[in-house]
Amino acid sequence: MNSPDPYKSKVAVITGGSRGIGYHIASALIDRGTKVVIGNRNDEEGQKIAKEFNERIGSEVAAFLATDVTKYDDLKALFGLTEKLFGGIDIAIMNAGTVGNNNILGAFSPLDGNKNDMLMQEINVGGVIKGNKIALLYMAKQGKGGVIINTSSTSGLYSSRGLCHYNASKFAVNGWTRGLNKDLKNSLNIRVNAVCPTYVETDILHNLPNDPSSRKLVELSAKASMKSCVNAFLQIIEDSKINGETVCVWPDPVGVKIEPGFEKPELSISRELAEFAPEFEKIQDELNKEKVIEAIKLAGI
Ligand SMILES: NC(=O)c1ccc[n+]([C@@H]2O[C@H](COP(=O)([O-])OP(=O)(O)OC[C@H]3O[C@@H](n4cnc5c(N)ncnc54)[C@H](O)[C@@H]3O)[C@@H](O)[C@H]2O)c1
Repeated sequence: MNSPDPYKSKVAVITGGSRGIGYHIASALIDRGTKVVIGNRNDEEGQKIAKEFNERIGSEVAAFLATDVTKYDDLKALFGLTEKLFGGIDIAIMNAGTVGNNNILGAFSPLDGNKNDMLMQEINVGGVIKGNKIALLYMAKQGKGGVIINTSSTSGLYSSRGLCHYNASKFAVNGWTRGLNKDLKNSLNIRVNAVCPTYVETDILHNLPNDPSSRKLVELSAKASMKSCVNAFLQIIEDSKINGETVCVWPDPVGVKIEPGFEKPELSISRELAEFAPEFEKIQDELNKEKVIEAIKLAGI
C-alpha cells in the first residue's frame, strides 16, 4: 500500500462478508476507517450487516449487493457499485466458500458432475478466479496498486479424509494465488496472498461430513481463534512485504504463520535458464502492462 495508513481512505470489497470469517474481517476494517462493500447470496442478512456498520460509524461506510460469486455479471456489478459509491477499490477479499452439504460431496457421491463435483469448484475456485480478474482490472485502471486476499484453507496444503473435493478446491486457490502474484507483482503493484485457516468456529463446520466419527474428529481438533484469523488479513494489508504468500492460521499459541512453500531443486535449473530468467521476467512484465489495458477495454471497466 502506498499510503502510510493502510485503512483510512481505503475501500474494500469482501465476498461472503455478511457472516463467519468474512463478517469479522469486514467489521475490523470498518472500525479502522475502511469503507466496505459486501457481496453475498443472502440479501436480507447482507442488508442488515451493512446497516449495522453504517449505524456504528454514523455515516455511509458500508454497502451490500446480492452476489453469487460463480457469476461474472454479479461480480462485475459488485465492483462497479463499489467504484460508484466509494470511488475505487484498494482491497479485494475473495472469501466466499463452501464445504458442500453434509454427505452430498465426497469420493462416493453420485456421479452427477454439475450438481456435486463441480459446484464446489465453481464457488471456491471459480469465485476466487473471477473475483480476482475483475479486482485487478479495477485496480490497474486506478493505477495505484492494491491488495487481493483469497480465503483458502489449511485444506489447501494438507489433505483430510472425506474432504477431497474441498482439498482440490483450496489447493487450486493456493496455486492460482501464487501464479497470479508472479504476473502482477512487478507490472501492476498489486499484491496477491492467500489466508489458510485451520478449523475456525463458524457455520461452515455444521456442513462437514456428519457421520459420528467425522463429527468426533472435528470436535477433537483444536480450532484457530477468530482473532488470529482476522489478524492474518490485517497483517497482509499492513505489511507490503507479504506478497505471494500462503498465510496459515493455526490454533493459539502458534496463530498466524507464513507457509514457506516449495522451492525447485537446484538441479532442475540450468545455467542458461538462470541467466535468461531475469530477461524473461522483464519481457513478461512489459507484456502484461499492454495486456491489462486491452483487458480493461474488453471488459468495459
Ligand atoms: N471455518 C473454518 O473452519 C474455515 C477453515 C478454513 C477456511 N475457511 C474458509 O473461510 C471462508 C469463509 O467461511 P466461514 O468459515 O466464514 O463460513 P460461513 O459459512 O460462515 O461463510 C461462508 C460464506 O460464503 C458465502 N457463499 C457461499 N457460496 C456463495 C456464493 N456462490 N456466492 C456468494 N457467497 C457465497 C456464504 O453465504 C457465507 O456467507 C470460506 O472460503 C471457507 O472455505 C473456513
